[in-house]
Amino acid sequence: MVGPMGGETRKPRREAILLTAAIGLVLSAVGILIGLWIDWFPAQGSTQADDIDTLWDVLVICSVPIFVGVTAVVLFCAREFRQKPGEEHLDGPPIHGNTKLEVVWTAIPALMLVTLCGYAAVVLSNIEEAPASGQENRVAVTGEQFTWTFEYTGADGTKFSTNQLYVEQGKSVRFDVRSKDVIHDFWVPEWRMKIDAVPGITTNYRVTPTKTGIYPVVCAELCGLGHAFMRQSAHVLPPEKYAAWMQRMTERQTAGAAPAADGAGGQTASADGKAVFTQGVGATGATACGACHALADAGTSGATGPNLDEALAGQDAAAIKASIVDPNAKITDGFGEGIMPANYAETLTPAELDALVRYIADATKK
Ligand code: CUA
Repeated sequence: MVGPMGGETRKPRREAILLTAAIGLVLSAVGILIGLWIDWFPAQGSTQADDIDTLWDVLVICSVPIFVGVTAVVLFCAREFRQKPGEEHLDGPPIHGNTKLEVVWTAIPALMLVTLCGYAAVVLSNIEEAPASGQENRVAVTGEQFTWTFEYTGADGTKFSTNQLYVEQGKSVRFDVRSKDVIHDFWVPEWRMKIDAVPGITTNYRVTPTKTGIYPVVCAELCGLGHAFMRQSAHVLPPEKYAAWMQRMTERQTAGAAPAADGAGGQTASADGKAVFTQGVGATGATACGACHALADAGTSGATGPNLDEALAGQDAAAIKASIVDPNAKITDGFGEGIMPANYAETLTPAELDALVRYIADATKK
């Protein structure tokens, strides 16, 4: 008599195992090739990016055969040990485990885990290492529903804030990250590094940006209705342009209403309320109001926020100012709370804010 685990099935089973192993090897190879061929990430924009991408590739190379192996064993067992006709009342032979097998299937994954964790720890320590020169820029990053604010300290100690991030190419920058409300996550995909902004504590990471250009700053932690809109820009400037930008921003802060020019070369008079409305603050500080709001006088047609000709008609300057610096205090019907950045009081100088309020009050006076 031949049982379900009996002798006569041995030979075909050996062939089935070999066939499964061969298919598994081919699928693993194909899977690894596809995994390495896919362009998972945007272009590398920091000295940290290469180490991280290599770690990713190594993990893909290790994970694919494990996935294929586990799937192959499950499918093989489902096929080989399934109940065949006539076996409804049979039970398999009594077995009490297989010590050798259990040692092997515990030791191999444990060894792989320890090796990969060790490698990841080395990568982590490399990418978090302080620059050898000890010289690095610092930017304080504050997350709130639903915007980022970046604070810098000029050479003379003057502090100023922007809501577009500016950093220097080729120099390490350390971000001290805080949150005013819920957990956010500060992320620039091109730099690869990202860290949670957690209320009550300050987290940090450093990167050395390698490529000039404009990259997205993304919130990578679901933080409320406006999470998807919590996106700003990181501008990476060559050292001389960064220094010039730093100086202009410091002067703008100390002079109050001095003209500000942005690092990329554009110019705007910062105390000109209409310019603040239509262009923002030289692409350095606050975002342009017109990007989100329609206002006939300014010729803007943004629809993210209320139409200001309607929403602010007949309002006095004080009410308009309150709507700008504390946008969540009063929400126009049909619009969500927290969509408009609540940091205009920080990203505009007092002179710019006053000019903006005066302009809007004039433009909506009917
Ligand atoms: Cu802040 Cu998502």
